[in-house]
Amino acid sequence: MNPLIYLDNNATTAVHPEVIEEMLPYFRARFGNPSSSHWAGRRVKSALEEAREKVARLVNCGPSEVVFTSCATESNNAAIKGIAAARRSRGNHIITTTVEHPSVLTPCLYLETQQCNVTCLDVDSEGMLDLEALETAITERTILISVMFANNETGTIFPIRKIGEIAERHGVYFHCDAVQAAGKIPVDFREARITLMSLSGHKLSAPLGIGALIIKQGVRLPPLFHGGPQEHNRRGGTENVAGIVGLGKACEIALKTMDAESQRLRSLRDRLERGILEAIPDARLNGHPVLRLPNTANISFLSVESDALLTALDQAGIAVSSGSACSSGALKASPVLKAMGRPEGTTVGTIRFSLGRENTAADVDSVIQVLPDLVHSLRTVQRRRN
Ligand SMILES: Cc1ncc(COP(=O)(O)O)c(C=O)c1O
Repeated sequence: MNPLIYLDNNATTAVHPEVIEEMLPYFRARFGNPSSSHWAGRRVKSALEEAREKVARLVNCGPSEVVFTSCATESNNAAIKGIAAARRSRGNHIITTTVEHPSVLTPCLYLETQQCNVTCLDVDSEGMLDLEALETAITERTILISVMFANNETGTIFPIRKIGEIAERHGVYFHCDAVQAAGKIPVDFREARITLMSLSGHKLSAPLGIGALIIKQGVRLPPLFHGGPQEHNRRGGTENVAGIVGLGKACEIALKTMDAESQRLRSLRDRLERGILEAIPDARLNGHPVLRLPNTANISFLSVESDALLTALDQAGIAVSSGSACSSGALKASPVLKAMGRPEGTTVGTIRFSLGRENTAADVDSVIQVLPDLVHSLRTVQRRRN
């Protein structure tokens, strides 16, 4: 039996042991509803506020600008639909990119059915955005630009500061889905002049089911969930106290360890890329060669099907993700690679390797050892079929 190797950290991460320790008391004796005025409520309320400060410190915003949500999908929906409603009298035009996560693109598609106009900007072959095209797309009806910090599939990092400057110059709000960047690379909400920013706990060693939306001081955003006055009337529903405490701890750890950990991951990732590209002919790296998350390698292999390679790797105990999105058992070509003009399907298969805190050089070397034979066998089968 091969050892199990997990290289799918852009999908989700293992919860950090210190995060689990920090959360445990809130499942046991330190229960309470933060809205209760008695001692049980007060003690969890103060834990909530401490976590808020830790999240704020990681991304350089004010604690009062942090609203806890259930996940980044909720944060993205709240931001985009909320701004479309709040700024209706000013305009109805939203600008985004073709490589956003579905939790950004689907709300935009929905808003098109509600008399909004959406411009989806293309990216180039390295997954990079053209800032001139962005500025040209702005009209007097534009109310929101939504661009991700870093792409989940290729790891390409967008010029967020410059986008923030453009948005500010035109009086347009800037929403940034920073899910894949926060905790991996420096994210500075204030410096980048971001208006709204989405975060997800489970991408940075906190548990599933907790997220945050950072809302710039003074920006009016109607809540997605109408209910009680929680989160200063910005998100109804009793707070997920243990999850919030976990997110706070994960942000504290990320702030302390980011420099060393990103260097370590970059060196492991480069070793993986080099090993694969040297050993396997007709393999090609996707995404920006430099402006890329330190943990992400997205590689296409000629004459191999993504799902066949994914299955073969899974059978070898290696968990990765394909460039294709699997929905109801059917594989669809990756919209991100399609947007970058990369062919997909039976001719080219794509695998995303995303490293995390628990990966070691031994994991990387195992992949480099196993992968060439798997690709070779699949290519032989493919050739016989054709
Ligand atoms: C870039 C990006 N945005 C949003 C999400 C959605 O996050 P969540 O699972 O917290 O809803 C993901 C998850 O894969 C993502 O990669």
